[in-house]
Amino acid sequence: MSAAAFGTSDFIVVANRLPVDVEKAPDGTLTWKESPGGLVTALKPILSARNGAWVGWPGAPDVGGEPIAGEDMLLMPVKLSAQEVEEHYEGFSNGSLWPLYHDVIVKPEYHREWWNTYVEVNRRFAEETAKVAAEGATVWVQDYQLQLVPKMLRMLRPDVKIGFFLHIPFPPVELFMQMPWRREIIEGILGADLVGFHLPGGAQNFLYLASKLAGYPTSKNSIGVRSKFGVVTVGFRSVRVGAFPISIESAELAATAKLPETKQRARALRKELGNPEKILLGVDRLDYTKGIDVRLRAIGELYAEGRLDPERHVFVQLATPSRERVESYKVMRDDIERQVGRINGDFGRVGRPVVSYVHRPVPRRELLAFFAAADVMLVTPLRDGMNLVAKEYIACRNDSTGALVLSEFTGAAAELRQAYQCNPHDLEGVKNAIDEAVHQDPDDGKRRVRAMRRQVLQYDVDRWARSFLQTLAGTVDETPA
Ligand code: ADP
Ligand code: G6P
Repeated sequence: MSAAAFGTSDFIVVANRLPVDVEKAPDGTLTWKESPGGLVTALKPILSARNGAWVGWPGAPDVGGEPIAGEDMLLMPVKLSAQEVEEHYEGFSNGSLWPLYHDVIVKPEYHREWWNTYVEVNRRFAEETAKVAAEGATVWVQDYQLQLVPKMLRMLRPDVKIGFFLHIPFPPVELFMQMPWRREIIEGILGADLVGFHLPGGAQNFLYLASKLAGYPTSKNSIGVRSKFGVVTVGFRSVRVGAFPISIESAELAATAKLPETKQRARALRKELGNPEKILLGVDRLDYTKGIDVRLRAIGELYAEGRLDPERHVFVQLATPSRERVESYKVMRDDIERQVGRINGDFGRVGRPVVSYVHRPVPRRELLAFFAAADVMLVTPLRDGMNLVAKEYIACRNDSTGALVLSEFTGAAAELRQAYQCNPHDLEGVKNAIDEAVHQDPDDGKRRVRAMRRQVLQYDVDRWARSFLQTLAGTVDETPA
């Protein structure tokens, strides 16, 4: 390839979504707003600090093609047609891969047309990335929507260093074997120099498949957290495989939560909710993996049994709309809104609901005020790669008050051991965890939150990125845990 074919960016993030979403008005005017989800929350500060480029879809069909110089990064919007959005994003990514990788909570659908478009769109992402990458650049490919990009990019640009990180769980081998194009996916990911997962278990599953399904020699050691990486030998290349649990900008969040205006807003929120004794809070994308239905069922029964008191305990659920054109998301939304209505009908008063439900994204500052106001945070996913909300809540508890109810089936559960952990499939268990958290001894509560704050403040998102990127660069053999 001639030198003229190289781009100018030395550090590039490739993700299905750009950090901003475009909205197209009927007159054709474009406006931009923050994109939803934990991937964007985590990666935005990393890329801003490194002045890199971000290749991604702008969130609407038929927009993009030309680079946009942002404040602290270059944005390269990848243009997708309406049909490509339907088949790559809504179809293969969110109708096949998302449910398959999340324990088949809903049944994955497999369609050849979706797969063909997934291949096509992954190729487009690889081509756009190849255009902006400088010679020898570092390219960090993100998540399940782009698993074929590492191999495709390597074929186009053998000079670049390629990392791949999966933000969602990598499923057990028995489930992954359902995937009709399972070998192609493993081969696609193996185009990277370093493959990262949140947990050692996911990394181990991948290593097993690289050997048993794709037939490559693999190391036999057990994988650690930010240490003891696995190795797959692909021809003359060594692909490293590791566990790098993602995190948040902990110090920044703690500082913002401490500001007088945040505290004042938190007090105002409490007043708006009728100055209850305890505020319980849920904050999620409206996704069936998040177990919003589980916590509503538990709360409803706790009110009915008198273990929660409608006069003293209120629940706030903030839910960002998500993937609204996918059928399973429509069904879930109706179900959750029916549950909210029923609990309020049974236990609320006129002008005083027991469940306050908001179906739109809350501005970041306002969200931190909610975290500061909430006495008990409910994080009850049936399966979640990490769950940043749990870490955000802990970071905002500067005085170590509060309590976290946390599903065992989140990546965060491996790190936040002092939470009130529960199995979201065990309704009585969830109810007991909520009951314990609401009625905790304040000193015991502080001990728990203090221990979790130490973890969250020490292992922040910058440390996550550094440990991944240093391992990718090969500057450390074993990053210290
Ligand atoms: P996921 O990536 O599956 O959406 P995470 O918990 O890892 O789940 O990340 C979600 C991110 O989106 C967090 O930064 C969280 O604060 C933010 N978020 C979730 N729900 C809302 C909401 N209702 N309003 C504003 N931000 C939200
Ligand atoms: C999760 C996924 C991300 C995704 C985000 C929001 O965090 O891991 O890849 O971007 O959810 O979902 P959406 O479908 O709106 O991009």
